[in-house]
Amino acid sequence: MDKLVIEGGKTLTGKVMVAGAKNAALPLMAACLITDETLKISNVPHLSDITTMANLLVHMGVDLSIESLKEDENFQSGRVLCLTAKNISEHRAPYDIVRRMRASVIVLGPLLARFGEAEISLPGGCAIGARPIDYHLMAFEKMGAKIDLEEGYVKAKVEGGRLKGADITFPTVSVGATENVLIAATLAKGKTILRNAACEPEVGDLANMLNSMGAKITGIGTHTLEIEGVEKLHGTEYRVIADRIEAGTYLAAAGATGGDIEVVGISPDIMSSTLEVFEKMGMKIERKENSIRAISTTPLLAIKVSTQPHPGFPTDMQAQISTLMCIAEGTSIMEENIFENRFMHVPELQRLGANIVVDGNFLSITGIKNFKAAEVMATDLRASVCLILAALRAEGTTGINRVYHLDRGYERIEEKLSALGATIYRTKD
Ligand code: UD1
Repeated sequence: MDKLVIEGGKTLTGKVMVAGAKNAALPLMAACLITDETLKISNVPHLSDITTMANLLVHMGVDLSIESLKEDENFQSGRVLCLTAKNISEHRAPYDIVRRMRASVIVLGPLLARFGEAEISLPGGCAIGARPIDYHLMAFEKMGAKIDLEEGYVKAKVEGGRLKGADITFPTVSVGATENVLIAATLAKGKTILRNAACEPEVGDLANMLNSMGAKITGIGTHTLEIEGVEKLHGTEYRVIADRIEAGTYLAAAGATGGDIEVVGISPDIMSSTLEVFEKMGMKIERKENSIRAISTTPLLAIKVSTQPHPGFPTDMQAQISTLMCIAEGTSIMEENIFENRFMHVPELQRLGANIVVDGNFLSITGIKNFKAAEVMATDLRASVCLILAALRAEGTTGINRVYHLDRGYERIEEKLSALGATIYRTKD
């Protein structure tokens, strides 16, 4: 297994290009199942989760080709995927693929809407919590699907073949359920209203692409989406939005190392809450139209942060900001409200010397002067990257084991960090 070795103590400076958002690209790819025409999606990041989704779609009969763009000096290598779901032979997402990536359940909506039936392996729990899919299923039942659970699979069938519009209120905000039902509702008979819907920028990106395919969605960017069903959608060309979590992670690296980093290719508007957190911690943030610069020259300050659905502070930045809190002056509080078990990184940060007390869904973090290098273990995607941030700052050389999680969400992170001045390399365990 791959391992990352990082020599701490270097100040990171320079510019880094932001990749396309994984969490936007995955539902956009799945949406190819809703039409028999070709979708051409550009700025798709080169990540293992994208490969998993591609494998699932090909397994179902999607015709897929990839155009790789030439890399530039900023390591920007967004790919263009051409997806045509003309001859779909399989309406089933098998356990072997879904267990690798929970986001695979997003194929349920488009399959049900276009073919009137689908079978999806139940994803099971994951490192950060139970993560059920009951909201997805409740919504499809309201739209006329009959759902059975057999041998670990969700078997869904629509009487008469076509979903019907419904008025659906999600019990709490769910990104995946909103996206799944949104895709399906575009082809349903009549009007669907999604209340308490997620308004994450990635949901907006999906809605915008569906509209460019002929869907009729209004309320984009709000918690109420209205979808007037149409008979058919057509192909389109679409560019994936920038990854606000990747961008936030590199800006956090400026905070961790007392550096000066500009992330290029992203609008500051899609990550306001994260930028405000950096500012409260004493970092200087410069917002430009298509880039954000973070400068950290003074010691970081303790703050209190709570994760919330968008436009609140994102859970996917919780581990990174918790890491900055470990070296901030004073005692900070981090409250996690989205996932029940998202503190897996805490024991690893403690191995690096962090002073963290866990109390339910709260972390109380008292700043230390610096981390001390050690061998640590990555447990999930964002937990892995927070260990990199800590290692960049630490005294000594840190080894981060099991970094395959990172390859799910961060495109060539060691090359991008090296270009900013880090000493980091990949080796075998
Ligand atoms: C997506 C993101 C993930 C991010 C999360 C929250 C993708 C591929 N992943 O995950 O990076 O951390 O949003 O912003 O886009 N829930 C239920 N029942 C359901 C659905 C969700 O109880 O049917 C709960 C979950 O367990 C969780 C909360 O709702 O506690 C939010 O989850 P959700 O927004 O659905 O997360 P994902 O879409 O899985």
